[in-house]
Amino acid sequence: MVEHRTPAVSLGRGFWTVTALFAVLSALGIWYWETTPLDNILPAVAAQPGADIDSLLRFMAACGTALFIFVAGYIVYFAIAFRARKEDAPDAIGVQIHDNHKLEFWWTIIPTAFVVLLSFLSVRIWYGIQIAQPTNGLVVESIGHQWYYTFRYPQVHGEITDEMHVPVNQPVVLNVTSADVIHSFWVPAFRLKADMVPGLINTIRFTPTKVGRYPIVCTEFCGTRHGEMDAEIPTENGQKNPGAQYFVVDSPADFQKWYHGWQVKNANASDALASVSSGAVSLAGGDAHAGQALFAQKCSACHAVGPFSQRIVGPGLKGVLHDPAHPNLVDGDKATPENVAKILQQGYKGDMGVMPNEAANGLSDKDIANLVAYLNSLK
Ligand code: CUA
Repeated sequence: MVEHRTPAVSLGRGFWTVTALFAVLSALGIWYWETTPLDNILPAVAAQPGADIDSLLRFMAACGTALFIFVAGYIVYFAIAFRARKEDAPDAIGVQIHDNHKLEFWWTIIPTAFVVLLSFLSVRIWYGIQIAQPTNGLVVESIGHQWYYTFRYPQVHGEITDEMHVPVNQPVVLNVTSADVIHSFWVPAFRLKADMVPGLINTIRFTPTKVGRYPIVCTEFCGTRHGEMDAEIPTENGQKNPGAQYFVVDSPADFQKWYHGWQVKNANASDALASVSSGAVSLAGGDAHAGQALFAQKCSACHAVGPFSQRIVGPGLKGVLHDPAHPNLVDGDKATPENVAKILQQGYKGDMGVMPNEAANGLSDKDIANLVAYLNSLK
């Protein structure tokens, strides 16, 4: 006869010792996060609400560290304390415990209260960044491009192409969007980041508190030269990144000087967004290699690098300039580099389908020259 007996429920002999150890380690972890400067992981805070975001980071990291020590610690402790022993039967299983209401109550209440507290602390900061409207804010725009940023200011015509300047201690409302693919606008020293999405405007609000130059970093992979949208990464030949740009916080006087300078410089600039350029595109100096990379990003969703019949949305383009069976392009013109450039520039609409123009595709004249050189190299 098998003898049934209720096994004693035990936490193991070392339970309270390891609990005390975890408490001490957690206290050390919390102390570390509350006292250690964040300078070695992040640049010094240069805008409000950056300091609040850092406090939140410290709080979350401290709680996370304590939580990790207890959870991971108990897993290891219980695995050792209740390991299979030599004298156990080969099919022995541990003590089975069901329906402990007291435990279940507390392990529901404590995490819930904690998550509610974290949401409250986060939403308070998020509200200031996303919703609250400063009464005296400077409203500026940044537009992401492959692979640089441009900026727009009230009372400055056209776009500012080198750096973004704002005066210190004045609230800034920054609207961001993109002209081509998804980029992001991140100033680590401000702790703020917004995605730049074509057709969508995202807004962040902050007040720069320290005069200085702060790199703007793109954190969405946006094509082959994405890395150039980060000032801290030099190019292969050690030169400054052409797309590397800074967010400059000036004294009010310096800002006025800079702002006025652009008002004068851009006095005759067009306020229109980039649109179809007039006149034929010069194809001189087209780089097939650069065109190939562009093709992968801009064209390959609709066009295969295959024969004419390999259609995705539009026809396959492998033989577009060298296919005796198709001497003419889709618009009836002769298949010449100039006529391919014209379709890239102006787009096409007909029974074969619709292709957007260069503005909608975010192509510069140089891009078109590169694409034509690439298409011409495919035989
Ligand atoms: Cu722009 Cu990555």
